[in-house]
Amino acid sequence: MMKLELVALAIWMASILGGECKVVQFIFGDSLSDVGNNMHLSKSLAQASLPWYGIDFGNGLPNGRFTNGRTVADIIGDSTGLPRPPAFLDPSLTDDLILENGVNYASGGGGILNETGGYFIQRLSLNKQIELFQGTQRMIINKIGEEKSRKFFQESQYVVALGSNDFINNYLMPVYSDSWKYNDQTFIAYLMDTLEGQLRKLHGLGARELIVFGLGPMGCIPLQRVLSTTGECQEKTNKASSGFQWSLKQVTG
Ligand SMILES: *[C@@H]1O[C@H](CO)[C@@H](O)[C@H](O)[C@H]1NC(C)=O
Repeated sequence: MMKLELVALAIWMASILGGECKVVQFIFGDSLSDVGNNMHLSKSLAQASLPWYGIDFGNGLPNGRFTNGRTVADIIGDSTGLPRPPAFLDPSLTDDLILENGVNYASGGGGILNETGGYFIQRLSLNKQIELFQGTQRMIINKIGEEKSRKFFQESQYVVALGSNDFINNYLMPVYSDSWKYNDQTFIAYLMDTLEGQLRKLHGLGARELIVFGLGPMGCIPLQRVLSTTGECQEKTNKASSGFQWSLKQVTG
């Protein structure tokens, strides 16, 4: 009995003295998860600054999200009760805010591959987002020390949601060399190889709870439907989505 009480006391003391960190999210993504990074990339052509973006969110004005309301990452985060992480490029971001809320590195136009979305001029690729995360880690280590940082980053949740742009703003566009160097199968294999390396890198940096999103039926987005005279979904593009989905299951399963 005595022993149990001592243990309970020790845990209680540790939580007081140790200043337990909160569980937060780090989000890597594209326009489906961007919460304002591109807004701060002044030369980027991928901007959610037109009217109607944000009409069902906050004050109803464009806020950097490529949607009328919440992003998919917002919705999933809200359902798990975790705070919504602020955009990495938000000038008001501080180390205290990161410890409380995590960070969102997602950038409209960004892809798994470096070259994806090149014609948007500025966007953060997944590799770039991971580099920025490494900078965030250094900042937090300086603030709370190695040991507490390791625990903080291992207990955090990581969302990786990219891939659509690698098709829509790369492989399916004849201006990119990937569109003639690969076929559907070899391109998906190339994407999976790259993504696997990136997930391993995040794991090496301490990520333990990784959530990797698949792709929606990309052939049904307006940008694809205008390519057919009838306005129908693009079958080839939807096939690519399912191919990606299937391969992703092999990599993450
Ligand atoms: C992609 O860019 C990163 C820097 O962000 C670089 O380290 C890496 O070598 C590049 N990969 C390829 C395949 O060009």
